[in-house]
Amino acid sequence: MFSKETYINRRKRLAEKVESGLILMLGNKDVPMNYADNVYHFRQDSTFLYFFGIDLQDHAAIIDVDNNKEYLIGDDISLGHIIWMGPQPTMEEKAASVGVENIKSMSELPKMIADALASGKKVHFNPPYRGENIMWLSDLLGCHHSEVKEKASLEFTKACIEIRSIKEPCEIEEMERHMAVAYKMHTTAMRMAHDGASEQAITGALEGISMSGGGMVSFPIICSKRGETLHNHNHGNVLKTGDLLLVDGGSESPLHYATDHTRTSPVGGTFSQRQKEIYQIVLDANNISREATKPGVTYKDVHLVAARVLASGLKDLGLMKGDVDAAVAAGAHALFMPHGLGHMIGLDVHDMEDYNDTLVGYMDEMERSSQFGLGALRLGRTLQTGFCVTNEPGIYFIPALIDQWKADGTNAEFINFDKVESYKDFGGVRLEDDILVTEDGCRILGDRIPITVDEVEATVKEGL
Ligand code: GLY
Repeated sequence: MFSKETYINRRKRLAEKVESGLILMLGNKDVPMNYADNVYHFRQDSTFLYFFGIDLQDHAAIIDVDNNKEYLIGDDISLGHIIWMGPQPTMEEKAASVGVENIKSMSELPKMIADALASGKKVHFNPPYRGENIMWLSDLLGCHHSEVKEKASLEFTKACIEIRSIKEPCEIEEMERHMAVAYKMHTTAMRMAHDGASEQAITGALEGISMSGGGMVSFPIICSKRGETLHNHNHGNVLKTGDLLLVDGGSESPLHYATDHTRTSPVGGTFSQRQKEIYQIVLDANNISREATKPGVTYKDVHLVAARVLASGLKDLGLMKGDVDAAVAAGAHALFMPHGLGHMIGLDVHDMEDYNDTLVGYMDEMERSSQFGLGALRLGRTLQTGFCVTNEPGIYFIPALIDQWKADGTNAEFINFDKVESYKDFGGVRLEDDILVTEDGCRILGDRIPITVDEVEATVKEGL
């Protein structure tokens, strides 16, 4: 947990941004995996964690903006709970640890909300994303569960986004400290990228490193020689020399801050000429777009910088043709990179996307594009000092997408489909770093995981 003052200060800033009413934050409960007592590993709600810091099940909190009062809501645990799950701090101790003066029991929460609603007060909450909390809110608000999300408070959500988007020094320290675990995960995957290794074994090793390093993985690990499937969670293949292994994996720090990196390694330790050429274009896109990342620049423009590097490199290889700027404007490069350049990262790997990814990534600044590829860009708005983002360009050869575009003649003036056909067995390359926007530019968080052709080949060979 951060210092008590950190949480007090965050809540003070939040209350200043919400005009009136009650701010209601629900913590998460345990969620059954296959029967009630066999639950998924507990993960606290990130908004609750950010403002109230308590990393335990079955809590809620209220900030009464009009009366300048804060309440931590929950119950001291019973002996039965202590026998099975161990002791826990008292409600009083928990409230004191995060600077909250008032405590209410869970049985008092419904009346607090009912009284506020009866007196015409606004009850602010963020859009819930778990079924349990949708049902909980449905009961508290006295409305059908299907109506809960539309009653969420845009004013409150925007205030949360404004505050959480700028990472505090203590958050940056926590994230940066945990980058050592990410480094170990990815260099281990490289050292395991050998003929006969199974994707499942590598995935297991990475999950183990994450857990030993302080927390669970920040999203299901993507570890596949079929890297052209962007979120490939199938780990059923055995690697062969000459394959490309794409690993997109991250870990949660002890305080639940995410890492998220992607590296692509040549199985056996040597890139083929064709692999090296594609790899180098993606690496150039990664480096050049990072150079473009600075406060005051829109991330949409940074995405387009990367897109131009990709299109230009693919043109040099004869896979694209025509004017590069026109190709990027038409979205032709999206045949090879159908996703956005990156997203915000923090307490969530896609930070705050439980609120609404378009709102987080665009606020009221600009419309999100509907163009294939650019529309998948989750962050478009102007960068500010203190933003943490990922930078993850890629090139993929997705047979089904190639077939569709070729059949439809999509962007045919910019794509050499005959040459692209010969790359259909290539797979994919993605190279991703986590980046902090600084006052005059940006910097990679933590030591950079090996990324140049030579560095990656050497790291793979260390495991031979
Ligand atoms: N690295 C996984 C994702 O960004 O979705």
